[in-house]
Amino acid sequence: MKTVLTTSPEKAAEFIKCGGIVAFPTETVYGLGANVFNEKAVAEIFEAKRRPTDNPLIAHITNRKQISELVIDVSLKAGLLIGRFFPGPLTLVLKKTKRVPLISTAGLDTVGIRMPGNKLAQEFLLACDVPVVAPSANLSGRPSPTTWQAVAEDLDGRIDCILQGEATEIGLESTVVDCTSDVPILLRPGSISLDELRSVVPETISYVANEDISPRSPGMKHTHYSPQARVVVVENPCLLSLSALTGKAAYIGLTSPETQSLPLPVLTRVCDSVEEYAHALFEFFRECDRLGIATIYCEKVPEAGIGAALMDRLRRAAEGEKIGHD
Ligand code: TXA
Ligand code: MG
Repeated sequence: MKTVLTTSPEKAAEFIKCGGIVAFPTETVYGLGANVFNEKAVAEIFEAKRRPTDNPLIAHITNRKQISELVIDVSLKAGLLIGRFFPGPLTLVLKKTKRVPLISTAGLDTVGIRMPGNKLAQEFLLACDVPVVAPSANLSGRPSPTTWQAVAEDLDGRIDCILQGEATEIGLESTVVDCTSDVPILLRPGSISLDELRSVVPETISYVANEDISPRSPGMKHTHYSPQARVVVVENPCLLSLSALTGKAAYIGLTSPETQSLPLPVLTRVCDSVEEYAHALFEFFRECDRLGIATIYCEKVPEAGIGAALMDRLRRAAEGEKIGHD
């Protein structure tokens, strides 16, 4: 299949209306979208990404009216979170309506909903005129794409269209909160932190993985965000020189690595803030793979604000080789 590149949200939306699959930018990462109600198109998303079918998709909306097409009941607490954070990088999991096909939710009776704040995403979704389910637009197991070029690297020839926008503003995927019970549960950390959620709904808790029960957010059991290189999280980049560096190494963090370390990292990115680090991470991973880097050293950051989401992604990437790719 030939993948059409366009900067026109209306042209991209035409593919959705005809049952196609389209990659589009959001403020977090690029998504790969299909009409939520079109089972055949949704099945194609799983195929194009090689995504395990037990991993549910997020439905993206442009207005509050679409919420009632997707979910049966918006609790008071969910309503408060919607009021404060929609549009934005927040996904709420709620009980789905019968209309939402099970393929979109991987057989669950719940659905994740999110209203992106990115202007081009909003124009695209408005032109689609239906909610659009979209996972991140990467091959399953690879880092999420933050540029349209990264989408093309993974999916060119496998999808109908790429809506070309800017590099995404945040660079990490949305915060996911389960609102199906009385106490909202943070399932995936993102740029909206637990503290920010608690400033609106103080009871909100963080999900603690328990190996005995199946994960609340099925996606969390799959390997994510992994480059081919080995990822090592380091407390202090000055200690790099002590590590047995074999093969080509790269470094990303907030402080400059010790220059005496040998061999020197072939690629070094020193960021001015945790936000910049989060924004740069996935593209840095991809660049390392392009250069055939063997080991990527990533500096640890405090788990405050987006730092919690960044550490979550770093830990997952570092664990990748142990868990195996999906
Ligand atoms: O920022 C984002 O959320 C991006 C952009 C494109 O919106 N999308 C994204 O989608 O990251 P994906 O499919 O890569 O990750 C969705 C996550 C997975 O961990 C999935 O298990 C979880 O959300 N999720 C989706 N629906 C769910 C549901 N009904 N119940 C529990 N978890 C759900
Ligand atoms: Mg993903």
